[in-house]
Amino acid sequence: MCGIVGYIGPREAYPIIIEGLKRLEYRGYDSAGVALFDGTDLKVSKTKGKVADLEKRSEQEITKHGSVGIGHTRWATHGVPNDVNSHPHISNSGDLVIIHNGIIENYESLKQELISRGYTFKSDTDTEVLINLIEDVKKQEKVKLGKAVQIALNQVVGAYAIAVFDKNKPEEVVIARLGSPLAVGIGEDEFFIASDASPFIEYTKDAIYLEDEEMAIIRFHKGIKIRKIKDDSLVDPYVQKLQMNLEEIEKGGFDHFMLKEIYEQPKAITDTYRGRLLREEAIIKMAGIEDNMKKFLNADRIIIVACGTSWHAGLVAEYIFEDLARIPVEVEYASEFRYRNPIITEKDVLIAISQSGETADTLAAIKLAKSKGAFVFGVCNVVGSSIARETHAGAYTHAGPEIGVASTKAFTTQITVLTLMALRLARAKGTISSSDFRRHLLELEMIPQKVEESLKSDAHIKMISDIYKDVGNFLYLGRGYNFPVALEGALKLKEISYIHAEGYPAAEMKHGPIALIDENMPIVVIATRKGHYEKIVSNIQEIKSRKGKIIGIVTKGDVQVKELADHVIEIPETFELLSPLLTTIPLQLLSYHIAVLLDKNVDQPRNLAKSVTVE
Ligand code: F6R
Repeated sequence: MCGIVGYIGPREAYPIIIEGLKRLEYRGYDSAGVALFDGTDLKVSKTKGKVADLEKRSEQEITKHGSVGIGHTRWATHGVPNDVNSHPHISNSGDLVIIHNGIIENYESLKQELISRGYTFKSDTDTEVLINLIEDVKKQEKVKLGKAVQIALNQVVGAYAIAVFDKNKPEEVVIARLGSPLAVGIGEDEFFIASDASPFIEYTKDAIYLEDEEMAIIRFHKGIKIRKIKDDSLVDPYVQKLQMNLEEIEKGGFDHFMLKEIYEQPKAITDTYRGRLLREEAIIKMAGIEDNMKKFLNADRIIIVACGTSWHAGLVAEYIFEDLARIPVEVEYASEFRYRNPIITEKDVLIAISQSGETADTLAAIKLAKSKGAFVFGVCNVVGSSIARETHAGAYTHAGPEIGVASTKAFTTQITVLTLMALRLARAKGTISSSDFRRHLLELEMIPQKVEESLKSDAHIKMISDIYKDVGNFLYLGRGYNFPVALEGALKLKEISYIHAEGYPAAEMKHGPIALIDENMPIVVIATRKGHYEKIVSNIQEIKSRKGKIIGIVTKGDVQVKELADHVIEIPETFELLSPLLTTIPLQLLSYHIAVLLDKNVDQPRNLAKSVTVE
């Protein structure tokens, strides 16, 4: 993880770097630092804490002038978060400076070798080893910085996105990538370097995304040269036009990104089905599916791999695909799948789901499946991300940038894409009648409006949150399509409020969790009218007789659950299959309000980072 930013050009680099780091804090926020060349010397300021702490610190430490600079916001891997372990790191001579996102796995043996040659280390990081390795190569081989970086990286095992410069030649910045994202914004005689495009979006819409195993030498007034790290061959730069704009990555009047993103869901879902769901023509158009229809129709099974919230979307998709398209589906945690020698054949289709498109385990699972001949389809939000590029085909969720660490609109748009896919395949297979197909299109088209209606319970949910904010544990129960939503609700609560929460299939309660229920235990039960309603009502009765506090998520107009529950939150009526798109909304709001009432950092919860690019 970690976010990196760099600038080389005629402007003051410091404000660009600081603002950029703030936008990248979703990638890590346990320490931050900046290095600038001020015209005569290298100035470095770094600290444990957030970018705001860095701003205060650099105010006292450095002059903040200079038009070449690099900055870093960290999510610790090697070495605890403290001032010394913060990036940038400087080589022993004091000449070279580096920022790094990733992990150098063989850093210990490289370090020992460097120590035997007289190098010393201040920090516990793998990054300080890398910058000294580069320095050592530069001296031993008597080569320029770019070449030294290349030779050093060929000795490294692991993942990296780096930016390095030499204070004696500050008009040149060397960058490289393997397994961690790196984008270069191309301005007029200026260059921006960043983990994603958000730090430079107001300066330029032209960006180059480095591919794995590529490095670039960026020279002021001279441009950018990209090479393959392994064989030194030159690569033709491919400049992409960015679609994103600044408003999309700002809070727009909301207190937190998470709340803004919860409220953006009607639009995000609409944007995701727009141009794909053509109700009047009664068709679904998805290029990635049309072009590969045979692969899907001939597949023995679909394997879905993902992590966290995306994995929950995969579980919902399992129900939808099997129900509509009658294709067997298995859903796997990417981190388990890749390490367990799974049986994969050429007749398997693997769907990888990822908001960031950078999750290391999901990426590794894709590579494994590809190596066994499976067809790999990606469902990603970030355009041009590693997963989007690594898959054979795919469909983007058009959620827009998701900045809050807790995933919200990514989840509902992933379900939207997966539902469209399942419907399209069901139509092609003939497992859905044309009238049912039309009914589903119509209902899916109405979901954004129903999400809008669900959001109206916000104040009521805030009031419920206030009652339960101080409890130590929560249970979430759901059945069928809403079992994964129960898991997602519990995940949302624990990650931002730090309250322990568990999600369970409601019927499993009797097999263990029921022992936890007493008058202090709030239980959120998803009890919509369609999904096994009578059975859920019985489950609620079982909770009631053990004095548990019931928060029911019910269909508008519900009577039975209302009589039993302590609180109910209503959502509009919809098809059971589409209900996760609505039931998830109150759960997002509940976790949001509890976390705010507890004064937690909602957008940047402790120990987490938005994209998990380490294994
Ligand atoms: C939870 C959350 C994480 C991510 C997970 C996968 O709110 O955000 O659990 O869902 O790290 O990330 P992506 O979807 O980027 O692969």
